[in-house]
Amino acid sequence: MLSQVFSAAVIGVDAYEVEIEVNTANSIKTVVVVVGLPDVAVKESRDRVTTAIANSGYYWHQGRTTVNLAPADVKKEGPSFDLPIAVAMIAAAQEKELRDMQDYCMVGELALNGAVRPVKGVLPVAIAAGRAGKKALIVPEANAREAAVVEGLNVYGVKNLRETFEFLTWERPLAPVRENLTALFEANRRYDVDFGDVKGQQHAKRAIEVAVAGGHNLLMIGPPGSGKSMLSKRICTIMPPMTLEEAIDITKVHSICGLLDGKHSFVATRPFRSPHHTISDAGLLGGTANPTPGEVSMAHHGVLFLDELPEFKRSTLEVMRQPLEDGRVTISRAAGSMTFPAEFMLVAAMNPCPCGYYGDPRRECKCGSSAVQKYRQRISGPLLDRIDLHVEVPAVTYNELSGKSPGEPSEAIRARVQAARSVQQTRFGKSNASCNARMSSKQMKEHCHLNEESEELLRVAISDLHFSARAYDRILKVARTIADLAGREKVEAEDVSEAIQYRTLDRNLWV
Ligand SMILES: Nc1ncnc2c1ncn2[C@@H]1O[C@H](COP(=O)(O)OP(=O)(O)OP(=O)(O)O)[C@@H](O)[C@H]1O
Ligand SMILES: [Mg+2]
Ligand SMILES: [Zn+2]
Repeated sequence: MLSQVFSAAVIGVDAYEVEIEVNTANSIKTVVVVVGLPDVAVKESRDRVTTAIANSGYYWHQGRTTVNLAPADVKKEGPSFDLPIAVAMIAAAQEKELRDMQDYCMVGELALNGAVRPVKGVLPVAIAAGRAGKKALIVPEANAREAAVVEGLNVYGVKNLRETFEFLTWERPLAPVRENLTALFEANRRYDVDFGDVKGQQHAKRAIEVAVAGGHNLLMIGPPGSGKSMLSKRICTIMPPMTLEEAIDITKVHSICGLLDGKHSFVATRPFRSPHHTISDAGLLGGTANPTPGEVSMAHHGVLFLDELPEFKRSTLEVMRQPLEDGRVTISRAAGSMTFPAEFMLVAAMNPCPCGYYGDPRRECKCGSSAVQKYRQRISGPLLDRIDLHVEVPAVTYNELSGKSPGEPSEAIRARVQAARSVQQTRFGKSNASCNARMSSKQMKEHCHLNEESEELLRVAISDLHFSARAYDRILKVARTIADLAGREKVEAEDVSEAIQYRTLDRNLWV
C-alpha cells in the first residue's frame, strides 16, 4: 500500500515543502529502505522511527517498506522528519481511514519511547505551510506557540506519536493552539532596561545617540566598571521600534537556532547579542555542518556587542567584514552555499590598556607604553575601518553615582533618533543607502558639503592631530548625522568639531 504525508525542510531562513511517500511490498525479509536523506541521517532516523513505532503499540509492514523523501534536490537535514515518516509507515501498514493528508504538514523528532521532541525552525515551516495552502500543521507541543502566529493555519501541538496518529484517524480530538500575532507583538515590545538607569555619562550617551541616529558602528573605551556593558545593553531601547515584518524576520532566525521556547515564542524587541571573545568563526558567522545562523544573524535588526575587543582573534574580526558590508552572510559548503541575514549595529568595548587604568585619574596604570601600543594594535585595521565613532567612557564619580536625579529616559532619546532617521529616509529615497553610515562617496559629495570654516577644522585635524586618512570620510558621515539630529540642512563647523571628538583612536597623542 502507498501512503503520502507532507513535511518541510528549512534552508537558510526559509522552509520548503517535502513530500514523504511510503510504499509497502511483499518480501520474505522485513526491511525499511529510506531514499532522499543523507546516509547518516537515514540510518539514525530509521532506527528512531521503527523503535518509536513499536514502543507506541503500532507495527509497520512485515516485508519491504520504501520511504521516499521528495524532491530529491531539496537538502534535508536534521531529525524533524521522524514524525511524518512514522505516521506514513503506520498508515501504510494499517487499514484505518486517515484525514485528508494533503491538508496537513508535520514536523517532529521522535524519542525511542514515542515521545515527540521539539525541533528547530518551526516558524519558517509554519510560514511555508501557510503559503502552500495547508490547513493545518502538526508540531511538537513545545513548538506550538512559535508556529501559531501564522494566520489561517491550525497548529496542533502533540506530545507523542500515539496521540498524533489517533488524531489523524479521527480517534482523538485535538484543539488547535491560538496565538494572536498583533497582540503578542504589542505585549512584548517593552525592554526591561532603560537609559534612565544610567547616571552621568553625558558624553557617552550623546555619542551613542549619534551612532544610532546615523546607523554608525561604535567603539567604547574605558576602565573596568565604567559602565560600558551597561550602556551597550540599552542601545536597542533607543533604536526605532521594530516593525512587525522585522520582528518576524528575527524570530525566524531565532526559531532556526532553537532559541525560542513556550514562554518566549516571539521576538518583539531588538536582539542584543554578546558573544564571548573565545567564540569560533563558525559560532560568529554561522555553522557549515548543519547550517545554523551565527551570532551576526542572531543580532539581525539589533546590536552585536563585542566586549573586550582586543581579546578577539584577529582572524575572527576579519571575517566580520562581509556581514558588516553587505548586511548578510553567505556560508559556502560542499552542498551549496546558504545566506542568512545579518544587519546589525556593531558595538565594541575595550579597556584603554591591558590593566585597564590608562588615563584614569583614580588609579595608576601599570602598563609600559609598548604594552599599551601592542594591546591596541590587536584590533584589526579593516574592522576599525568600519567603526565610525570611538568614545571614551571614563569612570563615573561618586557624586554622579549617588545623585538622585534620574537620567533621560530611552523614550525621549528614541524620539530624536527617529526624527533624524526620517530626515535620512527622505534624503536617500530609494537609493541603496538607508542611513548616513551607508552613504556612497557620490552621496557624500552631494550631502556633506562643507563650508570654509569646517574645511579648515578638518584640515587641522588631519594634518596637525595626525589623524589617519581613514578618519576623513568617517568624520564627514558622523557630522552629517549630528546636523540631522539638530535639524540642520547644511553641515556646520560645530557638527564637524563634535565628529572629530569621536575619533579617539586616530589621535596620535592618545597612542
Ligand atoms: N553611569 C552609571 N550609572 C549607574 N550605574 C553605573 C554606572 N556606571 C556603572 N554603573 C554600575 O557599575 C556596574 C558595572 O558597570 P559595567 O559592567 O557596565 O562596566 P564595564 O565598563 O562594562 O566594566 P568592564 O570593563 O569590567 O567590563 C553596573 O552594573 C552598574 O551597576
Ligand atoms: Mg563590561
Ligand atoms: Zn594599564
